[in-house]
Amino acid sequence: MNLKHLITAAALLAASLAGFAQSPIVIKFSHVVADDTPKGKGAQKFKELAEARSNGRVRVEVYPNSQLYKDKEELEALQLGAVQMLAPSLSKFGPLGAKEFEVFDLPFIFDNVQELHRVMDGAIGNRLMKSLDSKGIVGLAFWDNGFKEMTANTPLRKPEDFRGLKMRIQSSKVLDAQFRAVNANPQVLAFSEVYQAMQTGVVDGSENTPSNIFSQHHNEVQKYLTVSDHGYIGYAVVANKKFWDGLPADIRSILEGAMKDATKFTTEHAQSDNEEALKKIAAAGKTQIIRLTPQERAVWKKAMEKVHRQMEDRIGRDLIQAIYKETGFKPE
Ligand code: LMR
Repeated sequence: MNLKHLITAAALLAASLAGFAQSPIVIKFSHVVADDTPKGKGAQKFKELAEARSNGRVRVEVYPNSQLYKDKEELEALQLGAVQMLAPSLSKFGPLGAKEFEVFDLPFIFDNVQELHRVMDGAIGNRLMKSLDSKGIVGLAFWDNGFKEMTANTPLRKPEDFRGLKMRIQSSKVLDAQFRAVNANPQVLAFSEVYQAMQTGVVDGSENTPSNIFSQHHNEVQKYLTVSDHGYIGYAVVANKKFWDGLPADIRSILEGAMKDATKFTTEHAQSDNEEALKKIAAAGKTQIIRLTPQERAVWKKAMEKVHRQMEDRIGRDLIQAIYKETGFKPE
């Protein structure tokens, strides 16, 4: 090799090393809801902050609306490392063996977001997140969506109104018990399949937050929505543990900061996003909005709260009692 060749080879090697050094760390962040929802916006905010603060050393690719994976598959994909980040709802961790997460599904256990945050952001939330480590997952943050409302094609005012209805649920045994408590037939379905199931009559109704209902057009195929606020949908933002632990320390700390601020952003906007969505559902005019009186709501609570005791064996009596202590929950 003459000198000219040697110089060319050295230049090529330098260029390829520089290219290698510059190629960004790619985070595939998959989720099942629309961009225009609390989770969708949180994921976009995280992307924006992570990319800007890392000066392009990190690229976050957000895949919304079950584009890549549906509910169950996305958790498998995360564990296998096919995607690096997700934010499944807390109701979807049971099938992984993290049954304690279903405590957040207990009907009427939280009266407001403040109570919920005392639990999530305190020792209980911390312990639940840590329990994911053994499953190859690292818990990064809790994100809010909001309180759930009931929808159906028949009006739901009294517990008896649920009798015999096929109600779509997420994969949580607590939600299954909640609907059985009022003699409905719960059916687990992936989020992406709910609209069609409603349209074709595979299910009669469901429960979800206004932002999810409106962005998936459920209101176009459900005649009634009862503002019941009987339960809550929130998320655990999680990453593949091997990926996360293997990140350069400076990048991991930038991402932790971006997550902290994206979480703050989500907390600040989730409630108003849901209020807005409820107004849009009403304005769209296809769904009649039913508002329960405090007395009617108390009757629902009484009918459903037996689920708390039924689920003690699954979730742990101590955990349920610890939440009662934190929130001041009183049985009807
Ligand atoms: C659902 O499956 O109903 C929701 O939890 C979807 C989501 O991620 O908000």
